Amino acid sequence: MIKIKWGIIGLGKIAGKFATGLMYADKTELHAVASRDLEKAKSFAGKFNCKKYYGSYLELMQDEKIDVVYIATPHAFHHELSIQCLKLGKAVLCEKPFALNASQAQEMIDTARENNTFIMEALWTAFLPHFKHVSRIVNKKEYGEIRSLKADFGFPAEYDATKRLFNKSLGGGSLLDIGIYPVFLAYSLLGKPEEILAKAKMTETGVDLNCEIVFIYSNGRKIELFSTFEEKTKTMAEIEFEKARIQINSRFHEPTSITTYVNNKHEVRDFGVENNGYTYEAEHVNRMLQEKRIESNIWTHQNTLDLIQLLDEIRNKIGLAY
Ligand SMILES: NC(=O)c1ccc[n+]([C@@H]2O[C@H](COP(=O)([O-])OP(=O)(O)OC[C@H]3O[C@@H](n4cnc5c(N)ncnc54)[C@H](OP(=O)(O)O)[C@@H]3O)[C@@H](O)[C@H]2O)c1
Repeated sequence: MIKIKWGIIGLGKIAGKFATGLMYADKTELHAVASRDLEKAKSFAGKFNCKKYYGSYLELMQDEKIDVVYIATPHAFHHELSIQCLKLGKAVLCEKPFALNASQAQEMIDTARENNTFIMEALWTAFLPHFKHVSRIVNKKEYGEIRSLKADFGFPAEYDATKRLFNKSLGGGSLLDIGIYPVFLAYSLLGKPEEILAKAKMTETGVDLNCEIVFIYSNGRKIELFSTFEEKTKTMAEIEFEKARIQINSRFHEPTSITTYVNNKHEVRDFGVENNGYTYEAEHVNRMLQEKRIESNIWTHQNTLDLIQLLDEIRNKIGLAY
């Protein structure tokens, strides 16, 4: 099996974590990195033993050796950069949220199909062992149906109107940045809800500082989801089944443990991993490329579209348009 050659564009926080994850991945080479700033690219490349670095994103996309580009810029650029890569024949792993809205996401997927080229949203949680374990329990109905689910994600973010978390033109707001994880969890375990309720507190920059969401499913089951930049919250998920309760411990979206409460007993199972968790999605992309697929068979294009449609609907309710 040949090595898959990766390129990374947008060398911020997540790019560093992902590059670390790549170092643990099988049959993988970090071939080049690109920043808008050549010196920054050089220094990033040095840290990860990567020989090539570029001072523009386009140069990296035009590097003929690269198989797949990981896009790690603020959300607002995911759409344009993904399409540019796809048109140049590069496969794409694009950070979450895939795009700012469903119509952008659809266009990215259409472009991938037209160019017969792979694209996937980097929804890394979908590939983590603890999440797969919980999904299996749900799918097999091991403890019966889910009766309720609560999930939150919150941390205190320093207010800066210019930075990506608060800047509307960069796709700011808690929902798209971290609220996406509780929404992802509810969607993955229960599917799309019948009804959505949502309210938010907005910042001066016009994005949501926090967002409270209720998903209503059949039989009136209510699922409570929450995201906030105001304070640290438990960042846990609690799933109540007919015959047990499962807690995905903090922070539920990354490698973690789960506690199962059943018959007045509880058991903690640790799903901590040796790598930093990003290796799983990278190896999955490698496999998809080796198999010449244009779509993941785990986190499909339809999953991405469903998720972004849910986020659109929530934004509609809280009056946030990008
Ligand atoms: N999967 C995860 O666990 C996870 C975690 C955190 C974030 N994310 C996602 O990853 C993306 C990036 O997040 P991050 O926390 O890494 O952000 P960040 O630290 O701000 O880095 C973003 C990078 O994007 C590039 N960029 C291009 N145009 C920019 C602009 N106009 N303003 C600011 N930066 C610009 C910059 O790289 P250059 O200067 O090198 O060009 C910057 O360093 C977001 O979409 C976020 O949702 C995912």
